[in-house]
Amino acid sequence: MKHAKILGTGSYLPEKVLLNSDLEKLVDTSDEWIRERTGIHQRHIAAEGETTLDLAENAARNAIDAAGVAVSDIDLIVIATTTPDCVFPSVASMLQARLGIINECPAFDVQAVCAGFAYALGVADNFIRAGSAKVVLVIGAETFSRILNWKDRNTCVLFGDGAGAVVLGASDEPGIHSTHLHADGRYKDLLHVPNGVSRGYDVMQQEEAFVQMRGNEVFRMAVKKMGEVVEEALAQNNMQKSDVDWLVPHQANIRIIKATARKLQMDMSQVVLTVQNHGNTSAASIPLALDVAVRDGRIKRGERILLEGFGGGFTWGAALITY
Ligand code: ACO
Repeated sequence: MKHAKILGTGSYLPEKVLLNSDLEKLVDTSDEWIRERTGIHQRHIAAEGETTLDLAENAARNAIDAAGVAVSDIDLIVIATTTPDCVFPSVASMLQARLGIINECPAFDVQAVCAGFAYALGVADNFIRAGSAKVVLVIGAETFSRILNWKDRNTCVLFGDGAGAVVLGASDEPGIHSTHLHADGRYKDLLHVPNGVSRGYDVMQQEEAFVQMRGNEVFRMAVKKMGEVVEEALAQNNMQKSDVDWLVPHQANIRIIKATARKLQMDMSQVVLTVQNHGNTSAASIPLALDVAVRDGRIKRGERILLEGFGGGFTWGAALITY
């Protein structure tokens, strides 16, 4: 059993919804500008005291129910997040305890910002291919609202909080056909939170604790790299664009998504869109979108899905999957 198959999906969004009109009261922006430039109408924001672990737990429980596995069957937990509860332990370790998994399976976080879920899926897929795991919980979970400067209109209108999860199981047939992960650290200054633990909290300037982005330049690279990685995934599997039923892209901006769909010659009816309701939830956006389309009956067993994400680093990645 050398392939990883999606056994079940789950997701969770915090209760509080922040509308574009709410943001008009915080910064010099407008509902019209946000909708036109990004496609975003609203986003969910974690309540005070609600953390990434809380969101991850809810998404995980939904995915485990959908997969029909026992928590004791899970033998690896990988969580993609850029907004963990603590410096350590990892969110994955804490989730293991919350779920009551006492089999001492490995649990760790990966950090690749908005490409994080593609990275986590790639890691999990390789564990299963190597025979090192059989049932893997893979999660993207973020409370990105905590690292936003709510006075910076360039960034605060774009992001939201949420979590999405999948349970992967070892299978004789794919499942995940391939994953493709990339990074280019030369672009780090275009999209980053400049400060962190190692540079010392005491010297941290207020704005250095928050996301900074040169949106225009990020946009251009995102369109280019998303297009390239999609071609790479198809070529590796000797597949044509017409072999893909669904595109489940990272939900950063409707214009980036439309550009990728055009390159794939896919009609927008084959693209799962949640950006209007969720905003950019970073590592959570792909599994959230996947779960929405599985639960509303659009994505069916046997259909072929292309997932792709792009984020700070820069990092980017894709996965070609038969659901
Ligand atoms: N409301 C009103 N005006 C605004 C706002 C706002 N919220 N934000 C910026 N503007 C202004 C700018 O100040 C600028 O004004 P100026 O012309 O007077 O200087 C004008 O709007 C145009 O700004 P641009 O940056 O050129 O606008 P653009 O069309 O590029 O849209 C956006 C900006 C939405 C950020 C876009 O560039 C984008 O989506 N970039 C990619 C983001 C992304 O994909 N991130 C990926 C991963 S995220 C992660 O990894 C964490």
